[in-house]
Amino acid sequence: MPKAITLQEFIMDSQAEFPFVSGQLTRLLTDIGVAAKIVNHQVNRAGLAGILGQSGSQNTHNEDQQKLDVFADKTFMRILTAGKSVAGIGSEEQEDYILCHDQGKEGKYVVMIDPLDGSSNIDVNVSIGTIFSIYRRVTLLGEPLSSQDFLQKGTEQVVAGYILYGSSTMLVYTTGTGVNGFTMDPAIGEFFLSHPKMEFPESAIIYSINDALLHKAPQAVQKFIGGCRETLGVGLKARYIGSLVTDFHRNLIKGGIYLYPSTESNPEGKLRLMYECNPLAFIAQQAGGTAENNTSDILEIQPRALHERSPFYVGSRNMVQGLRSCWMATSGPE
Ligand code: AHG
Ligand code: MN
Ligand code: MN
Repeated sequence: MPKAITLQEFIMDSQAEFPFVSGQLTRLLTDIGVAAKIVNHQVNRAGLAGILGQSGSQNTHNEDQQKLDVFADKTFMRILTAGKSVAGIGSEEQEDYILCHDQGKEGKYVVMIDPLDGSSNIDVNVSIGTIFSIYRRVTLLGEPLSSQDFLQKGTEQVVAGYILYGSSTMLVYTTGTGVNGFTMDPAIGEFFLSHPKMEFPESAIIYSINDALLHKAPQAVQKFIGGCRETLGVGLKARYIGSLVTDFHRNLIKGGIYLYPSTESNPEGKLRLMYECNPLAFIAQQAGGTAENNTSDILEIQPRALHERSPFYVGSRNMVQGLRSCWMATSGPE
């Protein structure tokens, strides 16, 4: 029987793929794995928070009870800022970016994070996740970071990944040489390589969209979903959980497309380019899929603001291409 490979072993072994990289990226990935275990522990206790807390506001350690997304944000911030690898962090939960180590003068990397994705699903015991991506700093080491370090195109990502707090806890990530997935053994709190070289299957069987938005979505999206519905019963299924990470992960394994469209009232859609779209677009690309908005490749968008939103269509290449044909068949992007 082959030896089980832990996340730590895998990270160390892959360092050789990056000849010019010091140990900083390895340490950073290790730190993300540690933070993930802490958040995972808290996620698993979420249903008990109100029972174990004292007077509803404190836990058994006399610490303030926090909403899980605040807890996840604080945990990743604490661990990432404590290491020497990270110069700055952009978080969905923070209004502005955070500079580490004297205005970000130290640390080679910038991290973008959605600490808890799908938070509306916490109260109903449905899978949620964390999404992250890592960029090289643009400003020179020793200089303070500036906004250009944070507003980099998705093509510049060095690493992207997510943690899925589901029936099992998984960590899936890419360093640009394919996608690998690790499953946690809860008995020993260790991630093991369980899904090497993940790729979208040849045939896609799922489409995922919030159906309530469809009548407000662009014509092309409506036409595409209309086409998907016509094939219902001949293979295609509609599946939508409402946790982006979870919907994406299922579609990666089963084959499918996830759509969060622009609407009349929200022309930029809902999902955030830096924390949600770019990391999942990079993972999709590395797994043989692709990601677009109404007009272009997600990874090619030049961000203008940290919390910028974008319509998002991601998944199996043939399905995203099918959507693109619908843009061409209608009056084009709206
Ligand atoms: P977050 O919890 O980080 O704010 O993200 C929520 C997102 C995403 O996870 C999900 O796919 C989407 O919101 C669902 O939105 P709708 O409820 O509008 O379908
Ligand atoms: Mn999110
Ligand atoms: Mn979130």
